[in-house]
Amino acid sequence: MSTAEVAANLVRLLEARDYRVLYALEKALNSFEQVKADYIEKVTGLHEDEVAYRLGRLREMGLVAKGESGYYLVSSGLDAIALNALVQRGFISSFGGNVGVGKEADVFDVLDDRGHMYVLKFYRIGRTSFRNVRRKRRIMLAEESSVWLKACINAAKREAWALSKVYSVCGMVPKFFARERHAVLMEKIEGTMLNKVNFLESPLNGLKEIFFTLKKAYVKASIINGDLSEFNILYDGKKYYVIDWPQAVDANSPNSQFLLSRDINNILKFFRKKFGVDYPFDKAYKFVTVPYSRF
Ligand SMILES: Nc1ncnc2c1ncn2[C@@H]1O[C@H](COP(=O)(O)OP(=O)(O)OP(=O)(O)O)[C@@H](O)[C@H]1O
Ligand SMILES: [Mg+2]
Repeated sequence: MSTAEVAANLVRLLEARDYRVLYALEKALNSFEQVKADYIEKVTGLHEDEVAYRLGRLREMGLVAKGESGYYLVSSGLDAIALNALVQRGFISSFGGNVGVGKEADVFDVLDDRGHMYVLKFYRIGRTSFRNVRRKRRIMLAEESSVWLKACINAAKREAWALSKVYSVCGMVPKFFARERHAVLMEKIEGTMLNKVNFLESPLNGLKEIFFTLKKAYVKASIINGDLSEFNILYDGKKYYVIDWPQAVDANSPNSQFLLSRDINNILKFFRKKFGVDYPFDKAYKFVTVPYSRF
């Protein structure tokens, strides 16, 4: 079971006081330290016996860990906080299956109470480096845990920002609904990853559609994806959706032109190899960056 599934099962069992302790530990992420029980007593206003009881429970559930100098929040703990917040806000009411496991994220189906399906993406930046650290030292250090969890929260913020902006200028991206901590709730695209698509009626049109989204993002929203490839495009048989925007950059940032050229080249290379479409880079670059230019 993934950490998010563990958290989803536990969200129902957690009580208001458990959350108060989790929030106190979440606050401590900012100082990258393990915290003592008396810090939690101060922040929550709960009696020391109560805090001890809650910490014991949360540790058993795997949401909180104990290091040499105190307690700290782990990935499942942050999952529980994010899930609970989305439930409270009325966005989701049940947790479904795994949609995809990427390098840096776990993606799940979720439903709201009207049966509407969305996907929920939890960031897992540092997961692989973490495993190595754990193997070497057996225990995760609170500082490292905090650094990675903060990086996950920042990635989710960045993706939320990019998805909303690109969607608002009519780029083909999943519609953004909400972000809580390191989790992003978005429209579910019923499509196939482009790298697995073996036949296209009109590959040239596919190229055009994808570059049209890059153009909208660049010209109208001043955003560059920065990690574009056939692995981050979903095709539903008609439309091409560009997903996975946590590394998006502003078009005016220092290495933006390098990133944009790389994005364009990745797509051109894929279409050339897989579908035999030869489209010149200069023309594609001009189409993406110059308003009103034609494909
Ligand atoms: N909005 C969505 N609708 C449907 N499926 C999605 C959606 N977003 C993500 N997925 C699925 O989850 C997988 C992983 O998502 P995504 O590429 O955003 O995460 P990732 O972990 O950053 O991936 P990687 O780092 O490996 O590129 C996708 O390949 C896709 O199969
Ligand atoms: Mg991806």
